[in-house]
Amino acid sequence: MRKFLFGIVVGVALTIVIAVAMGMGALMYVEQGHVDPRGDIVPSAFEKKRAMEALDAALDRYAPKLNDPIQPTPSNLSQGAKLYGTYCARCHGAMNSSQSASWRVRLYPPAPQFSKEPTDMEEFENYYVIKHGVRWTGMPSWKNELTDQEIWTLVTFLNQKKKPGGSAPAMTMGQSPHGPNEKGGKK
Ligand code: HEC
Repeated sequence: MRKFLFGIVVGVALTIVIAVAMGMGALMYVEQGHVDPRGDIVPSAFEKKRAMEALDAALDRYAPKLNDPIQPTPSNLSQGAKLYGTYCARCHGAMNSSQSASWRVRLYPPAPQFSKEPTDMEEFENYYVIKHGVRWTGMPSWKNELTDQEIWTLVTFLNQKKKPGGSAPAMTMGQSPHGPNEKGGKK
């Protein structure tokens, strides 16, 4: 029995020593300048995956599960397209063209080009990201420029884009705000 307990104590102590050593190793790796500082290289698949997982997990923890109050009516989508063009396209690229925004290459991590890589996040998560921005990236917080209603309008616009068969929002510009299926396309 004493031998067994001794074994457990040694095992736990060894685990702690190894964990501390690994933590210190990681810290030294960073502090001694081994992390590549260049912003003009492509993030590795490992880095991208880890960063996305960290963001997903943080959004799970922090973002309140709010419902999007904005319906995807033609007028709301057209309003969303307008806001997107004014505030977002310079980094995320225009929706109605396959051309990437020129800033894309200069940001690290790069801004997703929504016309080609539609968001796969929940609406409340996109609302949270747009409102508060994403730390350590070029994604700014918009809470001082945009009202909550405008942010939700953008969320609705982006969400519509991600759905297969969703109306192409750039095309809805200038359409009159009509249509009986006000709630169409929404889950
Ligand atoms: C200055 C450049 C810049 C501007 C302007 C900008 N963003 Fe971003 N945005 C980024 C970057 C960079 C990321 C990637 C962050 C990451 O990799 O975690 C991002 C990420 C996002 C994401 C999360 C990614 C995803 O796949 O869903 C959303 C949503 C988003 N932006 C929406 C917007 C909206 C809406 C606007 C306009 C109000 C906007 N952004 C304006 C740079 C920008």
